[in-house]
Amino acid sequence: MIRVQVPATSANLGSGFDSLGIALTMYNQIWMEEYDGIEISSRDGVCVPKDENNLIYWSAKRLYEECGKKLPGLRIEQQNDIPMARGLGSSSACIVGGLVGANRFLGNPLSMQDLVNLACNIEGHPDNTTPALCGGLVTSAMEAGRVHSVSVPVATAIRFAVLIPPFELKTEVARGVLPQEYRREDAVYNLSRSALMTAALFSGSLENLRVAVQDRLHQPYRAKFIPDMDSVFRLSYELGSYGTYISGAGPSIISIVDDVGARDFERYALNHLEEKEIRGWKLEILQADSHGAAVYID
Ligand code: HSE
Repeated sequence: MIRVQVPATSANLGSGFDSLGIALTMYNQIWMEEYDGIEISSRDGVCVPKDENNLIYWSAKRLYEECGKKLPGLRIEQQNDIPMARGLGSSSACIVGGLVGANRFLGNPLSMQDLVNLACNIEGHPDNTTPALCGGLVTSAMEAGRVHSVSVPVATAIRFAVLIPPFELKTEVARGVLPQEYRREDAVYNLSRSALMTAALFSGSLENLRVAVQDRLHQPYRAKFIPDMDSVFRLSYELGSYGTYISGAGPSIISIVDDVGARDFERYALNHLEEKEIRGWKLEILQADSHGAAVYID
C-alpha cells in the first residue's frame, strides 16, 4: 500500500477570494492500493462514503479516465485529521489524495501542472487544491481552464491560530449567499488587499495583515452562518492577532500570530470563549506547510 499525505488548506485569507490559499501543518493520511473491487474504511472512525461516491475514489477514477485507463478498483483506508466542512480544505484533500495516489499507480504520467489543473477542474476553484498539491502560500488565476499559480514560502515566525467551531458549513451553502455582481470600489478594495496579503506574508511585514485580511466580497455575507463571529474576532485581536479572517467558506476562523500570540491563544482563547458561553470550539496552532501532498511507502 502507498500512503498519501495531504495538508489542510485555508483559502481566501480574507481578501483573496477564490485566488489565495495556504497549506497548513495538519494532514489527512490515505492508504491506497489497486484492488479488484471497492473497499473503503476509516482508521479513526470518521464516517466516510464507502462506494464510488467517495471523493478519493471518484478522483482516482477520473485520473485513470484522463489517462485512457480503467480503474480496476481500490482499497482505501482514510485517516481524517482535517475536520470536514469547516473551511479547512477537507474535500480538496480527498480530491488531491485520490489524484496523487492514482497518478503514482500509473507511473506518474501527469505532471504537477496537469494535477493542479485537474484538481481545480474537479473542485471548481483553485485556492484549496493548488496549495494542497504544492504547499506554501499560493496565488492562483484561471485562464482557459488552466491554473496559473505561484507558491511562495511564508516567513518562518508566522503561526496560524485556527479556531474550529462545533458545527459544519457546506461550501455550496456559503457560496449560495454571495452576490452575482459587485461595485467597482469593492473590487478595488479586495484587489489591493489581496496583493498586500501575499507581500506581507512572504516578507513577514505582519503590521500590514490587519488591513490585508479585510474583504467586501464574501465575509460580510457569510457572517450570519457563524453566530459568535464578532466575539471571536474581538477576542483574537485582544490576544495579539495581526489579522483574523474566515478560513475559506467558513466556519473556522484563523488568526495570524507570532510565537507570543500563539502562546496566548493556547493559554486563554478557549477559556475566554467559555466565559462568554461560546462552547465546543477547538484550537489548533499550525504553521505553513511548504511541501504539499506527498507519497510514502510504509
Ligand atoms: N474560495 C472558496 C470560497 C473556498 O470562499 O467559497 C471554499 O472552498
